[in-house]
This record gives sequence, structure tokens and C-alpha cells, in this order.
Amino acid sequence: RQTQFSGAMIGKGQHRHFMLKEIFEQPEVIGGTLNTMLNPAERTITLPTLPFDLASVGRVRIIACGTSYYAGSVAKYWIEKVARLPVEVDIASEFRYREPPMEPGGLAIFISQSGETADTLAALRYCRANHQHTLALVNVPESTISRESEATLLTLAGPEIGVASTKAFTTQLVVLACLAVGLGRARGAITRETEATICQALAETPARIAEFLRRDDEIHQIAQGIAEARDVLYLGRGTGYPIALEGALKLKEISYIHAEGYAAGELKHGPIALIDDSVPVIVICPTDELYEKTASNVQEVMARGGRVVFFSDQEGVGRLATPAHAAMALPTVHPFVAPILYAIPVQLLAYHVAIAKGTDVDQPRNLAKSVTVE
Ligand code: AGP
Repeated sequence: RQTQFSGAMIGKGQHRHFMLKEIFEQPEVIGGTLNTMLNPAERTITLPTLPFDLASVGRVRIIACGTSYYAGSVAKYWIEKVARLPVEVDIASEFRYREPPMEPGGLAIFISQSGETADTLAALRYCRANHQHTLALVNVPESTISRESEATLLTLAGPEIGVASTKAFTTQLVVLACLAVGLGRARGAITRETEATICQALAETPARIAEFLRRDDEIHQIAQGIAEARDVLYLGRGTGYPIALEGALKLKEISYIHAEGYAAGELKHGPIALIDDSVPVIVICPTDELYEKTASNVQEVMARGGRVVFFSDQEGVGRLATPAHAAMALPTVHPFVAPILYAIPVQLLAYHVAIAKGTDVDQPRNLAKSVTVE
């Protein structure tokens, strides 16, 4: 499959770094990945044939590391919402030593860009030994995790060279969104109308991302105000919470600035003590049913002098009672696909902050692209 990609997919193209090229490839590779399962005309999802019946698998576990773990954390909300199935998401390095008891016949999903992450592979082997159905979600088809799983769903992100995962993350999300719909349909938990609505939203996502990518210079501007910070807080609710975690990880790993992602509702249970005018607070806040609650968290932060960078849509930015230090109105999308779109600003923000700090964006210190050792 690697040969399917033109030479342009291998080089940096006209971009300064692989990471920036890969961020800008996302509309194309998300579209290509969606095309393997989504029928936009009929607005239906067709998963590849799997060697187990999605209608009868037991409990669902998603196991991964790093950014892939955050993709799994988004999928938990989606699968629980549309398939009405409880989902446990585990960090692989914790799961493999906890030796959780497992009823045979559960479905264990392993998300890994490289398909070689040692902790995720060890967790896969534990689940196989405990008679779980195993499903790999990888970007490298012949990888060990894919080969040792019963079935594989592929992200068609193409080779991801930058150590910081970007296009692999968003293509993981679209595969997981399709899997959630497939699980929902197999279990009769999703209406035809809901499936069509989600398919429509997914089909439009590449265009919405391309639209936002044209505003990269605005993120570059915002990044200049973040580069000198010592600590940065990211806030989100619902599927915006794993995006806050992912945004914090992106900033940490390429700019070396300490950052933390938090559930916005948790602010008053401690982290608000951190807030003063030296701490930028990045808020993921599309206009969904949680908007008002997160917007009130933002007011609390601003009342304490916190410098808020507010990512919402036109309506959300307009409804914010007190203007944020910086705000961007992203394209308005269906709330279901918002985490895919809102990954883009936090990727670009980390990139531009790292450039301002002069770090090695593609090969950050101490990091490897694939952690094949414990
Ligand atoms: C993501 O930006 C990091 N490079 C890292 O957290 C990565 O997601 C993690 O090591 C998992 O890698 P995998 O997806 O190849 O298993």
C-alpha cells in the first residue's frame, strides 16, 4: 500500500517541515480513508467484513498509547452514544500490568499508527490469551499489531514522518466514527436518520478542515503570545476533553512547554488555582449542548486574569459574554464531528509555538516515532 502514494507523499513538498505537510494533507487523507467505508450518496457506512459478529461481541475495550489513546477516548463517547455499548479505554502500559479479569468474547480494539508500540502489542497478547476478539486500527498494514490481531481497520494517512502524530490521529478518528456507526447498526441502536446525519457530517469534514487550514496565519499570530509561557492549560468537555488532552500533548512534545489538558468541569476542583495572567488557557468549545457550561468556565478563568484562547464557531464566539484574549470561529459542523475539526487548531498552535521557540519540530528531543521498547 505504501507504493500507492505518490512521491509527493514522501517528501516535505513545499512545506518547511514534515509535520506541517502532514497537517495540510489531512483533508486529502481523511477523504481517502472515509472513501473506504462511507457511501456519501446513500449516506451509509459499510465496514470491511469482520471475522466476528459486531451484534454479539461482549464489552468493548480500546487500548492504546499517547495520541492514539486520545483517539480512543473520543471513540468512547461516540460508541456509547450511537451503539449504546459501554466502552473502557485503557492506556496500554497500565492495562498490561493490571491483568484485568476479562469475560471471553469481548472486543478489544488496538489503535496504533506504527502498529509496533511495545506496550500496545503486549496488551494485545494479553487480550488474545484471554479469549477476546481483537481488532487493530493501524496506519501500517503489515505491522506486528495488525498481523497479530484477528482483523484490521486501516487508516490511509500515508507515511507519517513527523514524530508528533497529526494526520494519523484524524484518520484514526474517522475510522472510529465509522466503527461506532457500524456497531450501532449491527445492534439496532442507531436510526437510519442518525446514520445519514453522521455520514453527511463526516463527508463534509475534509472540506471544513481545508477551509480552516486557509487561516493558518491567524494561528501563527496567536502562537506568538503562547511561546513565552511556562505553563499552558487546555480545556474541553465531552469529545472536546480528549482534544484538550491531545492539544496539551502536541505542545509538550514539540515545544517543550509544560501543558495540561483538563475536563472543563474539573476546573473548580483544583486547577483554577493555577490561573493568573501568565497562564494561557486554550478552550475547545464548539456550540453543542455543553457550550453554556464551558463558556461559564471561561468567564471564571477570565475573571481571574487568565488569558483565554477560545476555539468555537461563529455562534459560540458571538455568545461569549466577555471577549476572550484571542478567539477563532471555526467552520460550523455537526457536534458529532467537532473533535475531528478541533484537532486542527491545536496541531497548528503547537507547530507555530515550536517554530517560535526554535525547537526541532520533526524530531523533538528524547522522542522516537515508534516506541518499540517498554
Ligand atoms: C503522538 O504525537 C506521539 N508521537 C506519541 O504519543 C504516539 O501517539 C504514541 O507513541 C503511540 O504511537 P502509535 O500510535 O504508533 O502506537
